[in-house]
Amino acid sequence: MRLEHIGVAVDAPDAAARTFRALLKATPYKTETVPDQGVRTHFLDAGAAKLELLEALGEDSPVRSFLEQRGEGVHHIAFSVPSLTATVEQLRAAGFELLSETPQNGADDKQIVFVHPKQTHGVLVEFCAPRTPDWSPRRIARPHGSVSAFVRGPEDAPPLVVLHGAVGSTRHETAPLIQRLESSFRVIGVDLSGHGDSALPDAPLTLDLFAADVCAVLDALDVPDAHVVGFSLGGGVALHLAATRPERVRRLAVLQTTVSWTEAQAAQMKQRLALDALEERAPARADRIRRRHTAPTPLLRRVRAFVDTLPAAAQALADGRLAVTAPTLVVAVDRDPLFPLDDALSLHRRLRTARLTVLPGTRHAFHALPLDALLPPLHTHLTASARIAS
Ligand code: CO
Repeated sequence: MRLEHIGVAVDAPDAAARTFRALLKATPYKTETVPDQGVRTHFLDAGAAKLELLEALGEDSPVRSFLEQRGEGVHHIAFSVPSLTATVEQLRAAGFELLSETPQNGADDKQIVFVHPKQTHGVLVEFCAPRTPDWSPRRIARPHGSVSAFVRGPEDAPPLVVLHGAVGSTRHETAPLIQRLESSFRVIGVDLSGHGDSALPDAPLTLDLFAADVCAVLDALDVPDAHVVGFSLGGGVALHLAATRPERVRRLAVLQTTVSWTEAQAAQMKQRLALDALEERAPARADRIRRRHTAPTPLLRRVRAFVDTLPAAAQALADGRLAVTAPTLVVAVDRDPLFPLDDALSLHRRLRTARLTVLPGTRHAFHALPLDALLPPLHTHLTASARIAS
């Protein structure tokens, strides 16, 4: 659990934004209307947590009655939890009264519940958890079918591409990271070919194709170059893009990515991608895969064929340095069951300008990454101006 934001009720959001800009050098990076709660919210990044400026909407807005009774000021404090269902159960068992029977949709792609302030010494406490965002994609037409991107954050912030892993997608995988970065970057989540909202082209999946997906999105958005962050397969795509189109990449971060594929690792990966076997072993995961991609069965077949090519490709790279000049942050988890820590060390060694961060973790899954531990080194790396010594 961590402090996510502090809600502040304000009469005039423009005046409040001016005050907080003078005070904290932070300007609202996102404004959102939440009809269910009778508010318009304005988010500011205040370092360890956010400020949520609350503007009353309509006559029966709870924020309006708060302002009438108490004037401007702190309205609530909000803690983020991994599972709101579990939190609601624990709160009920502990005898707390909630302001709603079930979690409600709040701002910032969150589900929220409030605890009645009479039980919490007058402090209105919110608990929130991320929900799958209902972002709409920008579809970029290409000869082999469209590629989709989700663009978040201020237009004048440094552009940052975020790439998901094999059989992942932006909305269902990398969204929580994007939400944490969108106050500082113009974040561009790309659904790689065949994944999520992007069409599956009638051609084999290759690193060239995935890198071309990213270039097509950058071209359509008129972005000459960007930082690129990729998880697993997305990290491989990021490295390939940086090696083949260096002019398009500023800084790189690769999360749980290997370039030293063995036949055993490829076989293990393919097992994770066999839909029929998943049907028996992990039916919920199989069901999620079916719902999240436009053509799940052919997608998994093509991804397995792609994984087959990786050990030979890695062999070709086996010695010598990777032709990547962009400063790179290599992020590993210490007990990744798929890619041992040695893979990350070897990747780090083979890059010209890289730093390494090892986080605690036992799974090869984006949602298991400890974002609170990842964000500080990632942010430092992406905002650094000096080059890393070779
Ligand atoms: Co709130």
